[in-house]
Amino acid sequence: MNICRTKAELKQQLSDLRKDGKQIGFVPTMGYLHEGHASLLRKSKADNDVTVLSIFVNPLQFGPHEDLDRYPRDEKRDVAIAEECGTDLVFIPSVQEMYPEKPLTSVIVNQLTDRLCGASRPGHFDGVGTVVSKLFHLIQPNRAYFGMKDAQQVAVIQQMVNDLNMPVEIVPCPIVREPDGLALSSRNVYLSAEHRLQAVVLSKTLQQAMKWANEPEMTVERLLAKVKVNIDKASEAVIDYAELLYYPSLQAPEPVALLQNLKQPLILALAVKFGATRLIDNRLLDAM
Ligand code: PAJ
Repeated sequence: MNICRTKAELKQQLSDLRKDGKQIGFVPTMGYLHEGHASLLRKSKADNDVTVLSIFVNPLQFGPHEDLDRYPRDEKRDVAIAEECGTDLVFIPSVQEMYPEKPLTSVIVNQLTDRLCGASRPGHFDGVGTVVSKLFHLIQPNRAYFGMKDAQQVAVIQQMVNDLNMPVEIVPCPIVREPDGLALSSRNVYLSAEHRLQAVVLSKTLQQAMKWANEPEMTVERLLAKVKVNIDKASEAVIDYAELLYYPSLQAPEPVALLQNLKQPLILALAVKFGATRLIDNRLLDAM
């Protein structure tokens, strides 16, 4: 496995790997890898001749009062996990390498980004769109792998790729969970022991909601009310959002609509804070 830190090295390494029409799979991450990231690497490994991983904590997608400075990092461990998953090339650029000067160009996906995490984290998806677009240009992968843990990110990136005719296939991958149901996240390390125990409320509520959704008279607003009551049972949980939307359009159905009459796939998306730590989770309702 090769590690490169500059665009020039990356270009050199890729031109060697790309020879003979080899298919390239790409997994963009911010590091502090866990089994969720590993699942993307393994899927890429299975689908492609060459797997490229990027590790870059992208300042552009963090708000001024967010956790950029304390975002967890462990390059040595990340490299070991990447190697174990059969990664061929790891790109670990510095901020200076990615943004030698402040970029004057942004990739902004409208509409899909004005709700859920986009509403709670203004500018976040502009940073994601811009960095992912840069990485796609640098790596020119055939396929890129994204986790449904960040379902809105998948919708935004797919829209960007469609709108700008980027020649890459976006492959959404399932959410990997702890044995008790908590979705794996690099940010889980921030949780205190008590908050870690309570954090299971997100996945448990999603599971419960799948059952409520099947009740014959269940409406959008009734389901959301039940979801919120259930999350509030965790004494330290503070709901940022709990929304039921069409996926991937992220349009809201009528609150009074009966769930059984809604044919398109729906997503139940949650963001809940425990102290300073904000956790997200979701489930697609057609995946019952
Ligand atoms: P990061 O949070 O490191 O996540 C990298 C990828 O891993 C994303 O596609 C994310 O959805 C996926 N992932 C995280 N937890 C997962 C889980 N429990 N199960 C399955 N997949 C999971 O998302 C980002 O980085 C950044 O926004 C990035 C796309 C790299 C742009 O900077």
